[in-house]
Parts: sequence; C-alpha cells; structure tokens
Amino acid sequence: MRYCIPALLAILAITCAACGGGGKPNTAGNKAGGGTKATERATVPADFKIGAKPDGFDPKSAAVLEAGEAAYKATCVTCHGEAGKGDGPTGAALNPKPTDLTSADVWADPKFTEEYMFWRIKTGNVGYTGEGTSGMTGFMGGTDEQIWQIVAYVKKLAGK
Ligand code: HEC
Repeated sequence: MRYCIPALLAILAITCAACGGGGKPNTAGNKAGGGTKATERATVPADFKIGAKPDGFDPKSAAVLEAGEAAYKATCVTCHGEAGKGDGPTGAALNPKPTDLTSADVWADPKFTEEYMFWRIKTGNVGYTGEGTSGMTGFMGGTDEQIWQIVAYVKKLAGK
C-alpha cells in the first residue's frame, strides 16, 4: 500500500497536466496535451495516400466553398464551431479541446499543411500526439473530393 500513494499522485499530476486550458480555445491544437508524451504535431505517415485533387479543382471557387461549407456544417461544426474557433457545443466537453482552426499559432507550424489536414480529416484522432485520447472523429466515409472541399472552406475561415 505504501507505494500506491506516490503512484496515485503521479497519475493525478499527469491527468491535471492534460486538463489545463479551462474554457480557453485550443490554439496549440494537438500539441495541447503537453505532459510527458510527444508535443510535436505528427508528420503524415509516408505510406498514407493523400487523395488527388480532382482535375480543375479551384479551392477559391464558389462551388467548392459552398460544398465545403455544407460538409463542414454537417460534420465539423459541432466540435470546431461555426467560425472554426474550436468552440462548438460538443467540443466543450472534450479534453483536449477541438483545435481553433483559425489560430495564427496553428498555421505558423510548418507541419500544419493541407496534406496534414487531409490526413487528420480522413483518419480522425490517429495523428494525435498529445496527452490522453482525442475525440477528433474527422470525416470518415467522406470522399477525397469532399475532404479537399472542407480543407478549402477551413482555409477560407482562417483567412488563408
Ligand atoms: C467530436 C468532435 C470533433 C469533430 C466532429 C471533428 N473534430 Fe477535428 N478535432 C477535434 C479535437 C478534440 C481535436 C484536437 C486534438 C487532435 O488533434 O486530435 C481536433 C483536431 C483537428 C485537426 C488537427 C489540428 C491540429 O492542431 O493539428 C484538424 C485539421 C481538424 N480537427 C479538422 C476537423 C474537421 C475539418 C472536421 C470535420 C470534417 C473535424 N475536425 C471534426 C474534435 C473534433
């Protein structure tokens, strides 16, 4: 029994490191966990196939942005919020919180590329590197074209 208490305290300390941030938006994205696990955004695995953009795909066209907005609103808004700030109603209960997809800090990470977004949207929490488990569900079952439309819409939300 004597050894259980320090072990318990250690577990508590790790859990609390992961629960920081309170109600603040998550601008560190999947680096938010901190603690003892990897804090770097993951690199897209070499064997993951990034879907090709359809021929003539124009990310700034009204058709692409409208389709991206519809898919984003149907799937992502509940966690990442209307404006992409990570403040959707379902996201409020999650730890880590959904990423603020408009955050300058997030976009400043050279690992946060279109290809990285495609991978995360396609595979959900697979690429999460922080503490604990991420509730990121992505867009399972969606087509590659729809994912590119969502990426285009998220970039619009972020002013990119
Ligand atoms: C059930 C809640 C939930 C849904 C639905 C969801 N996400 Fe997430 N998402 C999260 C959480 C939590 C994180 C932060 C932890 C992580 O990186 O896994 C995240 C992370 C991400 C990341 C990686 C951010 C980073 O910092 O590296 C991207 C990109 C993303 N989400 C986009 C989307 C898009 C686009 C959709 C809709 C297709 C979506 N998410 C749907 C909860 C969700």
